[in-house]
Amino acid sequence: MASTAAAAAAAAMVPKVALRSGNATPMPAVGMGTASFPLVPEATKNAVLAAIEVGYRHFDTASMYGTEKPLGEAVAEAVRRGLLQSREELFVTSKLWCTQNHPDLVLPSLRETLKNLQMEYLDLYLIHWPVSIKPMPITSRNKKEDAVPFDVEGVWRAMEECQRLGLAKAIGVSNFTTRHLDKLLAVATIPPAVNQVELNPAWQQRTLRAYCAEKGIHVAAYSPLGGQNWDGTGRNAVLESDALAGIAKARGKTVAQVALRWIYEQGVTSIVKSYNKERLKQNLEIFDWELTDEDQLKISQIPQKKIFEASDMFSQEGEFRSVDPADLDIVEE
Ligand SMILES: NC(=O)c1ccc[n+]([C@@H]2O[C@H](COP(=O)([O-])OP(=O)(O)OC[C@H]3O[C@@H](n4cnc5c(N)ncnc54)[C@H](OP(=O)(O)O)[C@@H]3O)[C@@H](O)[C@H]2O)c1
Repeated sequence: MASTAAAAAAAAMVPKVALRSGNATPMPAVGMGTASFPLVPEATKNAVLAAIEVGYRHFDTASMYGTEKPLGEAVAEAVRRGLLQSREELFVTSKLWCTQNHPDLVLPSLRETLKNLQMEYLDLYLIHWPVSIKPMPITSRNKKEDAVPFDVEGVWRAMEECQRLGLAKAIGVSNFTTRHLDKLLAVATIPPAVNQVELNPAWQQRTLRAYCAEKGIHVAAYSPLGGQNWDGTGRNAVLESDALAGIAKARGKTVAQVALRWIYEQGVTSIVKSYNKERLKQNLEIFDWELTDEDQLKISQIPQKKIFEASDMFSQEGEFRSVDPADLDIVEE
């Protein structure tokens, strides 16, 4: 089938990264992000099918996004259509939400995730945030009084059990600072394979990248193009950057491609969301050209501004009663 051959050829162009912990197959250096609000499951399913057709073999979801089911349906359909031989050709990541960030809820949450995905295993299971909220149904706005101390040791033991059971080939974290990683590494038997964090030319995470390189933790970048207006300002410090626009013009590339190429050149994997087939394709076309030293210098001078803070998941009113808000701080330059 011609389209299958084209998809396989495009997928083969994407370099892969061997993770230093766990038994996952190497991770493709660009993955498709599936988070999209409001959720339209059919749109997610169609976008994942389009992504498989243009060569994506790495997908990022989370119980929080509600996209596990449509992702699973798209993968099953891709196998039925012959676009994939089997699910084994993919690298699939999902995440444990804060309301499930409790030792006894980790394994049941992973089993639910696998059921949603119609899969036997995940390639990578991440603790979504270093934040625990009382067990309850998932919502995007939580009360501050519902935040409870994060039992990092107990939760990580349960994550390790998920890997031992073969339900997750590798385990890791997301939104962890060096301070959170220090605490985790002090108790871990299996070190985290990945830390997925906000990272792009406008939030470069130099301190965290250096720390993770030293500890053998691979860094994955979410919001590599500056996100989906998560802060509600309508501004995008990446796609509207004059510095990136100048480089894009000089290289004959798009601003998005320059941002993704820069991330790749830092040894970081991009998790980039597009539900548009042309942009999905464009976002994979970053492996056969390079940025110059001068481009790198210009990018290093881009003003830094973080989009996400842990406090964003709590409503403004109320008080934190049983956690120190400083423990939730994830801003680290
Ligand atoms: N671990 C975490 O806490 C966390 C937090 C946030 C996100 N994530 C993950 O990371 C993924 C990506 O991050 P993100 O969704 O925040 O944002 P992103 O990937 O930085 O940006 C996505 C936005 O850029 C647009 N876009 C994509 N390619 C483009 C291109 N070539 N040119 C111009 N615009 C383009 C997309 O719109 P179109 O769809 O219209 O192309 C979308 O609105 C998420 O989907 C999710 O899987 C994880």
